[in-house]
Amino acid sequence: CDRSGITKLLRSCVSLLEWMRQCVLDTLRLSREQLLEVKRRFSEEMTRGLSKQTHKQASIKMLPTYVRSTPDGSEHGDFLALDLGGSSFRVLLVRVRSGTKRSVDMQQKIYSIPQEIMQGTGEELFNHIVDCIADFLEYMGMKGASLPLGFTFSFPCDQTKLDEYRILLYNLTIYQTMIYIFCFPVLTVLDDALKQYEDSQTLVNDTVGTMMTCGYEDPKCEVGLIVGTGTNACYMEEMHNIELVEGDNGRMCVNVEWGAFGENGELEEFCTEFDHLVDACSNYPGKQRYEKMISGMYLGEIVRNVLLDFTAKGLLFRGKVSERLKTRGIFETKFLSQIESDRLAMRQVRSILQHLGLTGSTCDDSVLVKEVCSVVARRAAQLSGAGLAAVVDKIRQNRNLNQLSITVGVDVHKNQTKTLRDLAPQCEVTFLKSEDGSGKGAALITAVACRVKNEGQQ
Ligand code: GLC
Repeated sequence: CDRSGITKLLRSCVSLLEWMRQCVLDTLRLSREQLLEVKRRFSEEMTRGLSKQTHKQASIKMLPTYVRSTPDGSEHGDFLALDLGGSSFRVLLVRVRSGTKRSVDMQQKIYSIPQEIMQGTGEELFNHIVDCIADFLEYMGMKGASLPLGFTFSFPCDQTKLDEYRILLYNLTIYQTMIYIFCFPVLTVLDDALKQYEDSQTLVNDTVGTMMTCGYEDPKCEVGLIVGTGTNACYMEEMHNIELVEGDNGRMCVNVEWGAFGENGELEEFCTEFDHLVDACSNYPGKQRYEKMISGMYLGEIVRNVLLDFTAKGLLFRGKVSERLKTRGIFETKFLSQIESDRLAMRQVRSILQHLGLTGSTCDDSVLVKEVCSVVARRAAQLSGAGLAAVVDKIRQNRNLNQLSITVGVDVHKNQTKTLRDLAPQCEVTFLKSEDGSGKGAALITAVACRVKNEGQQ
């Protein structure tokens, strides 16, 4: 074997390794046809979720929110908003002014939820909330005032008492929407505790808050999208399509609860071994399958599992599987987006890896890690783009339009534009970033509800 022979052999080895890497990464790449198929299945599930007959079996629940309109600028008044999440919560006083002084002013105070109350009963928790509202009103010089109140629950999914929060969150969503069908004791407690304050109490999903906040700025905003720790969307649907609610006139906002898409196996053929691993190790195996391929909470875990696989195959980190790499949750979303960012030089990627305890990485390792991060993030943006394409196309079809121009209120913009252009070419979508969707949004929902009620009484 001469020198050139050895060089050739080495080159083939390098190409073989690259081929092995790309084979793995290809499983995480989705073609246009596959994305169109995701969109098609998504649309089908949306229809099943809306229909009385199929609602129970549908993976996408399409929950009616009873929000009948987006803001039109004529909303006026003072509103309270509660934003409950994790170990603290906010009480806000939101002053909405119409006419020439059209504005939304907010004042807020943050209250912590003591450990013993967090671990206590629902009754204790809600009584604590009521005490804090009373304190806030006194602090604002409005002791004893009775104001309309909007309520947001935004629990990060990695809470230690996840199960209870989840159930609570879920039940509350259901409660809001199917008040006559289900009955949960915790809600009676909430109801009793808050009765003294509320005029028109609104329980708000974060997507709805996002849509309403952006809807105040831009009347074309009729979709809300969250891609954060979790992912979900809401949009304005025609009443006659919402079979779970009586009445055929006008529109109502539907909370898609799209994270659950895939629970009936709709995503099976697009899932990789890494998705299965992430799902199996999660707190809810089999649940929220779409969310597990899209939201920040899981993307880092997908990346970690790919890196583990590469390392075990000797394609990364010199084949040394460190304890750190075996640790669940080391790849937080912030690292993922930093590494994936186009602007970041390899040297910086390497320093992030070192910071993560993944020492001894070479320049090639950094290139590969960056590629893994962008493949996983791109797939997430494409998948959420496919769902969004189904949503905006449904709105377009509902309105019998050839071309729809619509705004989507978002918490963070994740670049679904290309996928949308590809999968919903008849919809021109603008993204608008919402500012304080939970607090301001909750108050605006209440403001709109009061406006609609007053209009009804006139
Ligand atoms: C989860 C929740 C959903 C929420 C979303 C975004 O998917 O089930 O209600 O909108 O996270 O925070």
